Amino acid sequence: MSAKLEISRRGFLEKVALAATAAAIGSRAQGAESGAFVAPKLDRIRVAVVGTGGRGGAAVHRLCNVPGVEVVALCELDEAKAKRHQQQMKAHGFREPRLFIGPEAYKALCDSGVCDVVHINTNWTSHAKIALHALTCGIHTMVEVPGVRSVDEAWEAVELAEKNRCHCMMLSNCCYDEDAMTMINAARQNVFGELVHGEGDYLHETRFVGPNSQGFRGPKREQMFSSLVALIDHTGMCYPVHALGPISLAMNINRGDRMEYLVSMGSKAYGWQELARRTYGPDAPVAKIKFEANDFNTTSIRTVKGRTIQLRQCNNVPMPYTRGNRIYGFNGMLSTRPLQVALEKRFNGGANRFMAGAELADFRAKYGSPLWREQREAAKKDNGHGGQDYLMDYRWAYCLRNGLPLDMSVYDFAAWSSIFELSERSVRNRSQACDIPDFTRGKWASAPFV
Ligand SMILES: NC(=O)c1ccc[n+]([C@@H]2O[C@H](COP(=O)([O-])OP(=O)(O)OC[C@H]3O[C@@H](n4cnc5c(N)ncnc54)[C@H](O)[C@@H]3O)[C@@H](O)[C@H]2O)c1
Repeated sequence: MSAKLEISRRGFLEKVALAATAAAIGSRAQGAESGAFVAPKLDRIRVAVVGTGGRGGAAVHRLCNVPGVEVVALCELDEAKAKRHQQQMKAHGFREPRLFIGPEAYKALCDSGVCDVVHINTNWTSHAKIALHALTCGIHTMVEVPGVRSVDEAWEAVELAEKNRCHCMMLSNCCYDEDAMTMINAARQNVFGELVHGEGDYLHETRFVGPNSQGFRGPKREQMFSSLVALIDHTGMCYPVHALGPISLAMNINRGDRMEYLVSMGSKAYGWQELARRTYGPDAPVAKIKFEANDFNTTSIRTVKGRTIQLRQCNNVPMPYTRGNRIYGFNGMLSTRPLQVALEKRFNGGANRFMAGAELADFRAKYGSPLWREQREAAKKDNGHGGQDYLMDYRWAYCLRNGLPLDMSVYDFAAWSSIFELSERSVRNRSQACDIPDFTRGKWASAPFV
């Protein structure tokens, strides 16, 4: 852990002064004139981290190194866990954050006025109640994926953020993957021409959250890893953001186009139960829990402008980690992880092979993300998910400090969150189409950035 906290308090203040520029996620001009929501500038951003488990624990230490950010409070169910992070911060010369302990302690945290930003890293089942309370209090709210999980909660987030003039952002770290940022940048500069189709895969075996000593230890729901509990009663695409976020930004969804409807198809639900059977034997009570969640989900989305997006998710079949995006336009295509690009140079020429060697290097140099170029060292030092975690937090903090719109708005938050419920509805209804609400209420058509 300590490597993440290497930066001293003095170093932290120096970094604040040095971080003069930070490029936007895409190349289009940003700022108040874009019509997007901008909050009053904050010189020093007081952040409270809610949930200090695997993800939140890493966030505490990452945020300590983000210019302009001060971690002022930690909120947890488990006091020992929060205290451990508090002591580690203290040992590295940071001011001790205040602790708020208990399942409802987030209310006292939000009501206390100690923070400007609430950074939510709890399990899925508590994202909505914490986020909606923070927004009610007018606090900028950052929520781990998959955000909130119902259309009603997504609408409530939009209404509260608009009414109380605060940001609500999905902590979509995959949008800061280096290849994904190259894709977004190039697409926004029209390199691929009119876009027609995008794809995203999140094929990540996460059976470690299944029946092992970390959770899911017994037959009772409350003993289970609480995000996994959601898979007992729900099916559909429960984790769409890693696959969808980068494509949504590359296509300027909510900034000139909008997701109109989806159809979703799910395979049978076999994997989690089979894992419990293999681990504990067929007669163990845990092996008798019936999971609703489809093992493999494919969701297709059509936009108002006639583009399509295809998403695939699978988490409980043994396989190597496969996450990535592809985007297709009238001038060519790009695929991430590894970066592969094919562009047409003349009609029916050039796009039938991927760029290689110097040509690909030139493409990277021209369309690679300036944010990565500027902040690579700091991103790699933290190295959370290869550096993308740091860049995500660095970037919203930069925007808050400089009075810029965030890369991802509350409308993105709501639209991406809504896929959880809408894909489930479609799967349960023989893949019938479901409309995706226009959370911008028409603003997508006129505002380049909302
Ligand atoms: N973006 C990514 O790459 C990524 C990676 C892993 C997990 N996640 C997301 O991060 C979130 C957390 O996942 P995790 O793996 O860290 O889980 P975890 O179980 O390790 O941590 C969750 C923590 O939240 C705490 N908590 C739960 N309810 C709370 C409440 N009401 N108030 C305060 N604390 C509470 C728990 O005690 C626990 O310490 C999930 O939403 C998950 O989907 C995102």
